[in-house]
Order: sequence, then structure tokens, then C-alpha cells
Amino acid sequence: MFQNLTYAKLFQDYLDLKHFPVSPSNLYDPIRYILSLSGKRIRPMLVLMGAALFDEKYIEESLPASAAIEFFHNFSLIHDDIMDKAPLRRGQPTVHQKWDDSVAILSGDGLLIQAYLELAKCPKEKVPQLLDVFNKLAVEVCEGQQYDMDFEKVDRVAESAYIDMIRLKTSVLLGGALQLGAILADAHPDAQELLYAFGVNLGIAFQLQDDILDVYGDPATFGKQVGGDILSNKKTILYVKLRDLATDADQEVLTNLLRTDLVAEPHKIEKMKDLYAKYDIKGSATRLKEEFTAIAYDKLHAIDVEMGRKDALFRLADALMQREQ
Ligand code: IPE
Ligand code: IPE
Ligand code: MG
Ligand code: MG
Ligand code: MG
Repeated sequence: MFQNLTYAKLFQDYLDLKHFPVSPSNLYDPIRYILSLSGKRIRPMLVLMGAALFDEKYIEESLPASAAIEFFHNFSLIHDDIMDKAPLRRGQPTVHQKWDDSVAILSGDGLLIQAYLELAKCPKEKVPQLLDVFNKLAVEVCEGQQYDMDFEKVDRVAESAYIDMIRLKTSVLLGGALQLGAILADAHPDAQELLYAFGVNLGIAFQLQDDILDVYGDPATFGKQVGGDILSNKKTILYVKLRDLATDADQEVLTNLLRTDLVAEPHKIEKMKDLYAKYDIKGSATRLKEEFTAIAYDKLHAIDVEMGRKDALFRLADALMQREQ
């Protein structure tokens, strides 16, 4: 599968859930809960692989940064699930469902602070540079999340605006994870830049796949509510493509469908899927995903290190594009 067992295990061994205090339990139990669920651990692997691309000797000292990135990611998921009113995460109830919104807000905040505590454990001379990258991506994720919510309320979003939204909410975290690893391994700034660009383009392809899975994923493996994006009027790549391709008559059907919820229209998901099928929207979205994957691969090819060192990243990227989870 996509998990490189060596890197995933190194991260898992470093992640010590027991170090979180016991009380107050409504603050720390949700943190332990979300971190113990079976996430794919892509981002911490990217930190470690970003360092290993240049020199394996830096893997060990990249572990705190890999934890910082996974903590930040899990914080963003807890809060994202409140914003998206999502019932399921990694096959289990979301934190706000299992506890409540207030607990989810505060435990998310707590996890974000834990991310900074991990960053502070990195080699002192590298901390300022790591913080620059981390803070930049953290601000951008917030910006992307706000665009994502703003777009729920409008009928039309240009494809370029959509791509910029997902670059912010998702991709910069993958790019930044790799760059943290590169900084820790003293990589040349040109190589850092290319590695970041690889991660951002891979991240765009990753979010396109996420949008596709939200509609076409298998509920048994996906771990999230299938159809959730349709129910909350998310402007996903599928929706954006449909708006661009639909006939005038179907534009009206689509506009009316947006005005409904499950009470007014119990078949909202099926009706949207019928429109997607009529215009082969899944095919268009998949082709766009492949275009971004190809750009990502070009960036990785361009990095000036021995080809064999890039194998692990190419394999991870390949596997991510086929993922069902
Ligand atoms: C979910 O990320 C959030 C998105 C950016 C789509 P992942 O699909 O990596 O979630 P986990 O960590 O494996 O659960
Ligand atoms: C992912 O957006 C972005 C963040 C979590 C910051 P989604 O809302 O599509 O992610 P999932 O599908 O809930 O994992
Ligand atoms: Mg969201
Ligand atoms: Mg969500
Ligand atoms: Mg999603």
C-alpha cells in the first residue's frame, strides 16, 4: 500500500500518546482518540522522506517535525469536521459527535499547541527557518478553509479559484511537510523549492482524489460519510466541472438542487450523481488529477539528487493516486 513501513513505523514509535496528561480528560481524551485512529500518516512520512532524500542521517532528528505536522493535520481535521458537520472520521465518530463542539474546539486548539511544542524540540539553529515554513502554511490552511466555506454559499466558482482554494486548504501542508524535512537535512534552497513544488502539485492531485472519493468511495474503506460534500453544497472539482459543462436546462436543475437538503430532497446525492454521470464528470476530474500528478513528477525529477534516492517518493505518489481511503 502507500504506507512506507519504515517511515510509518519510525513515526508511530516516536508518537507517544501516554505523554499527554490524564486530566482534564475532556481536553486530552479527544487528542488521544483522534491520534489513535488509523490515519494514513502521509504528512509525517513526507517530513521524514524529505530529509532522507538528501541524507538518511537526518531522519532521526526530523521526528519532532514529523509529529508537529501530524498534530497540526489532526487539529485541522477536528475543526474541519465541526465546520463540515461531518459525522465520521477514519471510520469512527468525529470528535464533535462523540463529545461536543466545545470539546472539539478546545482539544483542537490543544493539539495545535502540541504541534508547536514539537517544533521547539527541533535543532535550535533550524527552528527559525522551520517556523517560517510552518507558520506560512498554517496561515494558508486557514485561508483555504475560509474560501471552502465561502464557496458553499455561491452557485459558481471558477476552476482557477477552486484550484487556489485547495492549494491553500490541503496542498501547502504536503509541500511544507517535505520542505521541513529538506531544511532539517540542510538541502540547497533550489532543491527545497522543487521539493515544495512537488508536494503542492501532489497535494492538489490528492485533494482532487479526495473530492472524487467523497462521491464514489466505498463506505467500507473510505472512513468518511460518502456524499457529505454534496449534502453541504461544497464546490468540489466535480461540481465545478459540472457547472462548466451542463446545458442551460441542467444548469437550472443544478441550481434547484443546491436549494434542497435531505428533507426537501431525500435523493439529493443520487440526483447529483446522475448529473455527474451524464457529463462524465468523474472522467474529467480524474484527467485533471493526472495532469497535476504529472507536474509533481516533473518537479521531483528536476531535483539534483541521485535518481534512486527518489524511488520512495515516486512510489508514495503513485500509491496516493490509487488510494481508496
Ligand atoms: C484528509 O487527509 C484531509 C484532506 C486533506 C483531504 P487524509 O486523507 O490524509 O486523512 P488521514 O490522516 O489519512 O485520516
Ligand atoms: C480538507 O478538506 C482540508 C482540511 C481538513 C484542512 P475536506 O473537508 O475535503 O477534508 P475531509 O474530506 O473532511 O477529510
Ligand atoms: Mg472541509
Ligand atoms: Mg471535511
Ligand atoms: Mg473531502
